Amino acid sequence: MPVAVITGGASGLGLALGESCAALGMDVALLDLDGQRAADEAARVAEAHGVEVWGSAVDVAEGASVDRAATQVGERFDAVDLVISNVGVQLFGAVETFTDDEWRWVLDVNVVGSARVARSFLPLLRKASSPRLAFTTSSSILDPASRLGAYQSSKFAVWGLAETLRVELAHEGIGVSVILPSGMITRHLETSEAAQPERLRRPIANDGDFDAMIGSNPGMAEMLATSDDAAAGVVEAVLAGEPYVITHGDLTEAVATRSAALQRAATSARDARS
Ligand SMILES: NC(=O)c1ccc[n+]([C@@H]2O[C@H](COP(=O)([O-])OP(=O)(O)OC[C@H]3O[C@@H](n4cnc5c(N)ncnc54)[C@H](O)[C@@H]3O)[C@@H](O)[C@H]2O)c1
Repeated sequence: MPVAVITGGASGLGLALGESCAALGMDVALLDLDGQRAADEAARVAEAHGVEVWGSAVDVAEGASVDRAATQVGERFDAVDLVISNVGVQLFGAVETFTDDEWRWVLDVNVVGSARVARSFLPLLRKASSPRLAFTTSSSILDPASRLGAYQSSKFAVWGLAETLRVELAHEGIGVSVILPSGMITRHLETSEAAQPERLRRPIANDGDFDAMIGSNPGMAEMLATSDDAAAGVVEAVLAGEPYVITHGDLTEAVATRSAALQRAATSARDARS
């Protein structure tokens, strides 16, 4: 039986992706800061789909915690076919207002957390015949908005991490995908607040942040979906080796505009030398 491991698997998109894996006949490990919720959801998903689902606590902000989870997964399942590093925390604010510690928190959980997950689980992925590694970023890196500077910077970095791993792991046949969800109706603000270290405690969003975000990118408001709808077809695309999976929303114009600008820059650099 193939095995999938999903971080941030107790809620929202991670849980919906876990259900997709179970529906495809995979055994699943749902790992989350909220270990109780992960265990409860695991029992429900196992019952619904007749596969083995294990839910447990992990804190991707701590290397030892991620290592421990990988050891436990390795004891339960021999190999892991798919790892989805899906944890992300949100913190709104204008760029000039973030403190150094706020930057460090968002980057540590979202970026270094993703790197920790890759590092700890690669030995188990290497035991699978067709291993896949996927990272949840955000479609806001294709079409950014204001007040999301720390979050968007972190998601760009996760994209960079994924691109690097794709190159580094290609010779081993380990596929790497980037999942880009648009807005979803989830517990994201609530769980980000719960994950916030006590010394940094402040509202995840302040008055005016949402209005400024939507004001800078009105299309965002039209792209909201449930996490179940967003997850539809994502696991299949990752298993098929797609490098990029946009879950929902119309990003065609944003992608075309950036691609055209990059193409102009690349053409101009080439032509300047000829
Ligand atoms: N909700 C959106 O609009 C949206 C849009 C684009 C991308 N995303 C991304 O999708 C992913 C899933 O978010 P979601 O919307 O499903 O939110 P969610 O809050 O429903 O799920 C996130 C889960 O991550 C867990 N988590 C938080 N910190 C953790 C840590 N340090 N270690 C382990 N687990 C931790 C939470 O407990 C929670 O269960 C995130 O990477 C998020 O950035 C969300």
